[in-house]
Amino acid sequence: MDLYQMEGGYPLSGNVRIQGSKNAVLPTMAAALLQRGTVVFHHCPRIADVWCMEEILKSVGARTRWCRDSLLIDCSNIYSGEIPGAYADKMRSSVFLLGSFLPRYGQISISYPGGCTIGRRPIDLHLAVLKALGVEIYEDSCGLHARAGKLTGCRYCFPRISVGATENAVMAAVVAAGVTCLSNCAREPEIIHLCHFLRAMGARIKGEGTGEILIKGVCRLHPAEFSVPSDRIVAGTYLFAGAATRGKVALESAPVEEMEAVLGVYQKMGGQYQVKSGTLVTDSSRVRKAVPFLETAGYPGFPTDLQSPLAAVCATLEGSSRIRETIFEDRYKAAMQMRKMGADIQKCGDVLEIKGGSLHGACVSAEDLRGGAALVVAGLAAEGSTEIDELTYIDRGYEHIEKDITLLGGRISRIYRS
Ligand code: EPZ
Repeated sequence: MDLYQMEGGYPLSGNVRIQGSKNAVLPTMAAALLQRGTVVFHHCPRIADVWCMEEILKSVGARTRWCRDSLLIDCSNIYSGEIPGAYADKMRSSVFLLGSFLPRYGQISISYPGGCTIGRRPIDLHLAVLKALGVEIYEDSCGLHARAGKLTGCRYCFPRISVGATENAVMAAVVAAGVTCLSNCAREPEIIHLCHFLRAMGARIKGEGTGEILIKGVCRLHPAEFSVPSDRIVAGTYLFAGAATRGKVALESAPVEEMEAVLGVYQKMGGQYQVKSGTLVTDSSRVRKAVPFLETAGYPGFPTDLQSPLAAVCATLEGSSRIRETIFEDRYKAAMQMRKMGADIQKCGDVLEIKGGSLHGACVSAEDLRGGAALVVAGLAAEGSTEIDELTYIDRGYEHIEKDITLLGGRISRIYRS
């Protein structure tokens, strides 16, 4: 298993370009199945979850090809409804095939989606809205079996907000007969990007980004091209790496308009930033104030995916910080790993109580994607050497974190072990 070897204590400085968004490209890749030609994804991140989704699409007959940083997906010849468990349970986004493959092929069998160890991650909300659209679903020990004769538009209110269930519902509804009105939808930017892509393929959608999305079903969709937007979570991770080391980093093509809550917290801790022709220019030399209390929330609130990287910064601030995780029930593993680095972090119910101080190097393990990235942030701030193993989690979502951190003057190298 590969590992990172790090030497902390060096303020980051310099420029990095932000990669394409994992959480925007995964649902749009699945949505490619709704049309019968070839779609092109520009600025597509080369990350493990994209390769996994590629394999899932190929398993039902799609053909894929890379051309520099563009990924082409040919969906002209789809022939199977069986998704190999090896892929499906490795990544939660396999669940998107329920909404995108079913309308095309009519039936699908899929094992329960996997994902990070950050919580139970049920899919009841996905199944409920698909049933409302006319999908028949039965479950057995092998997983899910779904069939859809004719999907029919409906009025549906989500009992709880879910990003993925909203995305799945929109994909199924764009080719359902009649009008679908979805309320209590998630508002994440990734949903807006998905709807832009679907509209480029000929879908009729309005209201994305609000709680209510209206869709008028169409008979067929046509090929389109999609420029994958920059990843707001990767940008936030690097922002916090700069904060933890009191450095000055410039994040090229950072989606600043999607980072309001994150930048608000950054400013409150003493960070300063400005936007210069699409680059987020930051100065963390005055970062020191603790975060008295913060709750993660659905967009536009503070994103749960940056909770662990923020905790790493809070461990270096003066005073006590409190962070309440409201989205996932088990997203505290990285914070517990940071205790090995001298972090004074207690988990009290769903709140992390963090007394700021200094960190020292240690051997730690990534246990989920964003938690792994948070350990990199902590390792950059810690005095001495840090080793991080289980890098496959980080590889799922960060295209080249060690290269980027090195570009910014951080001391990190990847030790390849068979
Ligand atoms: C998406 O996950 C993201 N993943 C997550 O990013 C992100 O943390 C999450 O949204 C919240 O913003 C992708 O976009 C691929 P949810 P998703 O459905 O759709 C519960 C990362 O690190 N729930 O909004 O799975 C669920 O357990 C990943 O990039 C149900 O109860 O999130 C959670 O507690 C991690 N039933 C809450 O809702 C369901 O059917 C929010 O989940 C679905 C979800």
